[in-house]
Amino acid sequence: MGTSTVPPLKIAVLHYQPSGDPIDPVVDHICHALKELGHAPVTIGVHKGIFDLLEAIDHANADLVFNVCETFADDYRLEVNVAAVMEMARLRFTGSGTAGLLLAQDKVLTKQLLQYHEVLTPNFVTFDGDTFDAFGRMQFPLIVKPARSDASIGIGKHSVVQDWDELTRRVREIRRTYNDEAFAEEYIEGREVYVGVIGTPQRPEILPIIELDWGDWKAKYKVSDRDVKFGPDTEGSPGLVIAKDISPELKARIERSALLAFKALKICDYARVDFRISSKTNEPYILEVNPNPYLEKDSELAMGGEERGLSYTQLIGRIVESAATRYAIKAKPERTQSGETPAVDGGGRAEKSERAEKSERAEKSERAEKSERAEKSERAEKSERAEKSERAEKSERAEKSERAEKSEKAEKSEKAEKSEKAEKSEKAEKSEKAEKSEKAEKAEKAEKAEKSEKAEKSEKAEKSEKPEKSEKAEKSEKAEKSEKAEKPERHDRSERADKGEKVERVA
Ligand SMILES: Nc1ncnc2c1ncn2[C@@H]1O[C@H](COP(=O)(O)OP(=O)(O)O)[C@@H](O)[C@H]1O
Ligand SMILES: [Mg+2]
Repeated sequence: MGTSTVPPLKIAVLHYQPSGDPIDPVVDHICHALKELGHAPVTIGVHKGIFDLLEAIDHANADLVFNVCETFADDYRLEVNVAAVMEMARLRFTGSGTAGLLLAQDKVLTKQLLQYHEVLTPNFVTFDGDTFDAFGRMQFPLIVKPARSDASIGIGKHSVVQDWDELTRRVREIRRTYNDEAFAEEYIEGREVYVGVIGTPQRPEILPIIELDWGDWKAKYKVSDRDVKFGPDTEGSPGLVIAKDISPELKARIERSALLAFKALKICDYARVDFRISSKTNEPYILEVNPNPYLEKDSELAMGGEERGLSYTQLIGRIVESAATRYAIKAKPERTQSGETPAVDGGGRAEKSERAEKSERAEKSERAEKSERAEKSERAEKSERAEKSERAEKSERAEKSERAEKSEKAEKSEKAEKSEKAEKSEKAEKSEKAEKSEKAEKAEKAEKAEKSEKAEKSEKAEKSEKPEKSEKAEKSEKAEKSEKAEKPERHDRSERADKGEKVERVA
């Protein structure tokens, strides 16, 4: 039993199981290791049918799914979708999620990401049917690969091409046979090594480097095809060994690249990174990154673990531990009323109640936070309102007093004006009256004088000059009449003067 901090869990090992096929030995290896670790493993074999998958997982009611399902419905590209379904069902499972599986499955995308992070990968060229896009300078020979393949599908000795004719032919073949885009990259002559990485994205650990020993390989280009990977292990056939004679400097470069790739591709829990070390430059080139790599007892990862001092069981334990850390599954010290640890069989439910408790706590604290926020904002609002009303009151008061002052002043000045006017008008009245009375007096006097003069004159006329006057008046009247008959009337000055003269003369 390992020194795991993970509590005993019910773990469902999810694997691909076409009906009639023998069970992959890796399932047994993992179950055995889980048992040794104190967990309760169950197996879930899926083939096709999404409802079967969901029903089987639901029925298992496991605390954790150990996901080794690399194919679904006979399509290895649907490995991503199995993870997606589990994510949608809010299940906790080991290994990468949809992001990591998707990014690593597409080799072109992987290479673009690696180039972005300045991690060495062979220069390459992509084809979309009509045109091609080159990423870096290249030299034949190139190796042509399907963009989204695995386990050397579509890769063999015929994959290495020497010129454009061979290249276009191979690109067409891949498109036709594998219904996939093809890309070509520089063939890197040199050692082929594999590096295991285990742990969370925050604390990944690099395992010792494993090398592919080519044995009696005679062909010029060495390509790990399906025969190399899955063929019988006979004498002289290629096999895995612990890499020797790698300088500390080269080892450091390989490890650095592997770590960067693990993080850049959003890998979780475990991965294997495939390298070629150029025999020309001694540089390590990443060929691809494998999330959820094969975990058989004699796999590269198991070998690397062993070399590090980790038994196979401990390696499986480290993967479970990494997943448990990501999902915050912790050992529960408290016991149920019957004194049992609520883990293995009822673990799913116990875990669920823990989750419910957590979410309740989170909800409560959120509610408290919200109400505190609301209270704060209310307080702030109130004090703002009070401040505003105070300000408004003050300004109103100030305004009022100003207005009052003004109106008082205005009143005063009005009064003053009025009184001034009144005074003036009184004075004017008085002076007018005085004037008037003076005038009236004068007029009276003049009238009186006139009257007395007239009376005097009329008296005199009456008394003495009555005949003379009438004679003269008669004369002048006659003269005037005769003159008018002689000359027409003229209106200029001289004439008037004339007239006057004449009148005088006549008179
Ligand atoms: N650029 C390359 N240079 C040399 N050999 C390569 C190159 N790319 C792939 N190979 C060979 O082909 C094998 C499979 O290629 P890889 O990209 O790892 O695809 P797969 O996903 O099928 O493993 C490698 O293990 C290696 O032997
Ligand atoms: Mg590979």
